[in-house]
Amino acid sequence: MDGLPEGVTVGSSGHLCVAGCDVVDLAERYGTPLYLLNEGVFRQNCSRYRSAFLQYPGEARVAYAGKALLTQAVAAMVGQEGLYLDVVSAGEIFAAERVSFPSERLVFHGNNKSQEEIAYALRVGVGCLVVDNFDEIALLTDTLRALGVRQRVLVRVAPGIEAHTHDYIQTGGLETKFGFDFDSGQAGEAVRQCVASGVLDVVGLHAHIGSQLLETRALPPLVERMLDLVRDVWSGALPVPWELNLGGGPGIRYRSEDPPPPEQFARTITAAVVEGCHRRGLPLPTIWVEPGRSIVGQAGVAVYRVGSQKRVPGLRPFVAVDGGMGDNIRPALYGAEYRAVVANRMYDEATETVRVVGRYCESGDFLVQDAELPEVRAGDLLALFSTGAYQYPMASNYNRVPRPCFLLLGEGRAHVMVERESLEDLCRLEHVPPHLRRLRVEA
Ligand SMILES: Cc1ncc(COP(=O)(O)O)c(C=O)c1O
Repeated sequence: MDGLPEGVTVGSSGHLCVAGCDVVDLAERYGTPLYLLNEGVFRQNCSRYRSAFLQYPGEARVAYAGKALLTQAVAAMVGQEGLYLDVVSAGEIFAAERVSFPSERLVFHGNNKSQEEIAYALRVGVGCLVVDNFDEIALLTDTLRALGVRQRVLVRVAPGIEAHTHDYIQTGGLETKFGFDFDSGQAGEAVRQCVASGVLDVVGLHAHIGSQLLETRALPPLVERMLDLVRDVWSGALPVPWELNLGGGPGIRYRSEDPPPPEQFARTITAAVVEGCHRRGLPLPTIWVEPGRSIVGQAGVAVYRVGSQKRVPGLRPFVAVDGGMGDNIRPALYGAEYRAVVANRMYDEATETVRVVGRYCESGDFLVQDAELPEVRAGDLLALFSTGAYQYPMASNYNRVPRPCFLLLGEGRAHVMVERESLEDLCRLEHVPPHLRRLRVEA
């Protein structure tokens, strides 16, 4: 069968296989919905990013953006692959700490880090903290002075560059909640305040313009803006080596997209940095990138069991599966699209276009609006590709439905990375106040 993602094959029985594991067997053994992550593909993408920047004459660092998917096993793989790790919460730092991820390779982001999170990050010894706003500069300065320590930081800039992607995953335009505004001079003021604090070692700048970018066009103007800022703000007192973090964002194929490969992102960025620094007489920075989706997205496959159907003459049929917006909010949130296949009958020809809907009590609960499939029956397994990034981490217990099991697959073997939640788990943190413990029916 054509066009299957990396690491996905079809066995002689017509069953979908991921990393050499038969998906029908996995569904029998672990139940559905079931999330799968191909370890080989994940690791290959990590090393592909590392290699892509080898042609840069300075130093380049790749940080995996944990928000795309971070389990303890994922943090361990990132550590073994020698990448840095972007974290945005105490929870993500904790997961990394639990697998002894080197704290000096953690980069801590966020537009509203709490005092407790900052204290925790400093205690753990995160290598770099990305400062996002003036309140945070004040908070950090007070905390560091009280502790009598210093912290390496980058200043996050809202560069006023529009990326060509969905509004909800744009972050670099002017109307964004992230980072210091460029045009009004706030970014420059932030650098000055950090330097003046005496406890913040400000080593460079950070920007992230958006996610699921399908072209590299916005990157050279981004680099130009950042280099202008560096030249104007530091004017001669630039730390050497200084650091330029250009965020993440490279897109992946969900259905028919054809995003530029990591190598092209690396070439575009490095060429713009080398040329722009040369023109301004700036020393070359250490370049950082923070890909999430393009490392983990295509390593993921989600598997659902088909249940009921609704067929009305003249309407596209509704095929309901046992998951939906609770484990994958992306279609409802911003119209994300996926390719679906019948995992137990991969050789059957597609004969109709159906809507794959979920089991949650919302009309907006759908996974695929127009899936081309053979006629499906109750009990069939539907697999969705490219589900590694931003599905599981956004999963909820809406309708009190337990979150799925997540398996890590490699060389024909399956390891449980996250167990399926039980009904007991759903009640674990709840309390029933004493006056409600006896059910009393008032007349
Ligand atoms: C600051 C920052 N870095 C990196 C990323 C990762 O982006 P992507 O998964 O698109 O590569 C994001 C995503 O929102 C981000 O906000």
